[in-house]
Amino acid sequence: MKIMVIQGPNLNMLGVREQNVYGPMKLEQIHEQMRAFAQQNGVDIEFFQSNLEGELVDKIQECLGDADGIIINPAAYTHTSIAIRDAIAAVALPAIEVHISNIHAREEFRQKSLIAPVCAGQISGFGPFSYHLAMVGMVQILNEIKAMRDMQQQQEAQKA
Ligand code: DQA
Repeated sequence: MKIMVIQGPNLNMLGVREQNVYGPMKLEQIHEQMRAFAQQNGVDIEFFQSNLEGELVDKIQECLGDADGIIINPAAYTHTSIAIRDAIAAVALPAIEVHISNIHAREEFRQKSLIAPVCAGQISGFGPFSYHLAMVGMVQILNEIKAMRDMQQQQEAQKA
């Protein structure tokens, strides 16, 4: 089982940018915590950050055949990117949208997500802990998918 974590524009500046909104933690520290949780749960994890919309689309497409689930903070592209939404819909992998801040309590233009409708769910507003909650959610989803597949295989084996 492999989880791909995709980080959008300006998230490479965490710890520097608007600390009153996003806090002091750096992206690499968030990733270390996610890596530790993945190890504890026996799942592989990979991280990707880009400031470019097309690179994010490419990475989502590459997940097909390479990852079982996607955790994505599309950052500002959350509110604008039909291309990222279409890419997630195209690969049809379970995806969870993450935000550090509570986008629903911020400016009106941040309150709409074009990405959420193609995701299993959205986690927003828990600071860097949002990523941990997304990991818990994704491990749960992947375990449910695995249990379902195992059951189907058993049923097919019984039929044969
Ligand atoms: C963000 C919220 C977005 O509105 C913003 O553009 C970001 C970060 C968050 O994690 O809270 O860059 O996705």
